[in-house]
Amino acid sequence: MVMARAFAPGKCILFGEHAVVYGHPAVAVAIDSGVEVSIEESDRWTLEGLPFDSARHPHISHILDEVFRYDGPSLRMEVNSGLFSAAGLGSSAALSNAIGAALHSHTKPSEPIDPVGLARMSHLAEARAQQGRASPTDTATSALGGCVVVSGEHIEGTRHVFDATLTTPEGEREWSVNIVDLPSDMEEAWLVIGFTGEASPTGKMVAGVAQRLKDEPQLEKEMDAIARITRAGLTALSAGNLEAVGMAMDACHQKLRLLGVSSPSLEALVEAVGPHALGAKLTGAGGGGCMVALAREPQRVAEAIEIAGGRPLISRFGASGVHLL
Ligand code: PMV
Repeated sequence: MVMARAFAPGKCILFGEHAVVYGHPAVAVAIDSGVEVSIEESDRWTLEGLPFDSARHPHISHILDEVFRYDGPSLRMEVNSGLFSAAGLGSSAALSNAIGAALHSHTKPSEPIDPVGLARMSHLAEARAQQGRASPTDTATSALGGCVVVSGEHIEGTRHVFDATLTTPEGEREWSVNIVDLPSDMEEAWLVIGFTGEASPTGKMVAGVAQRLKDEPQLEKEMDAIARITRAGLTALSAGNLEAVGMAMDACHQKLRLLGVSSPSLEALVEAVGPHALGAKLTGAGGGGCMVALAREPQRVAEAIEIAGGRPLISRFGASGVHLL
């Protein structure tokens, strides 16, 4: 029996979370850990050895039925995730991309996979599963790999790859998806992610920021500061200036804290890595979930995270995107 196998990486946001909701750019990097999917024909539909229940897996059934219009023999699907879930590392986007790639290879084995097509497909699957609202950040970063900038407009110094559009309950939205070509200096850099063990409730955190901006309009200037730091961080990344990237991460964390999205557990991990990292910040929606540090000696940072009660994950900077195995 022929088996199709694919892997798609997770991501972490380096700069611009929350500000991206207001049209500013966000910078995300693909990480080494991700989701592996294997599928093969079988006498019944199973997922992880259990009968497949499409209502419980809206991403997978959307991809099977509406994207591939799959009407072939039953499939046995196995999913292996190396990501903490509900932690802001993009595990559902990676699952969609890996399933899409594996199904593509199963149904059209002679055609190479198309990462942009997979990114678009997975973005729609995410939107379906989230009441029509999803930014393309997770899906595009997992599909393309490397370092991705998602923005309301094209950002100088980046390479435009595609535009993502979505009809949301609030109307038509469009994002420009761009890649940053990383210089070889970035090969010396490692990302060390620290999971607090607490889930990061993205919807609640985004709504909390919206409310705070309404109550305290002066917070608008923190949002503008995040946008400025993001652009400075991008310039530092393109120049391979690790120290400056780390400083921008520290600055971004301070602004996110002023927006009220940090938490005691995130603060504990960010503080613990301080002496050993080039920079550190919460990553993603906050309120729990993960922080990320930039380091030349990742092992020390991982140890500091463990001692402070977090779960570390070490990754190269900008892993490759979705691929067949
Ligand atoms: O879902 P997460 O934790 O990767 O973070 C989402 C990033 C936000 O900017 C907070 C929300 C968004 O839709 O971009």
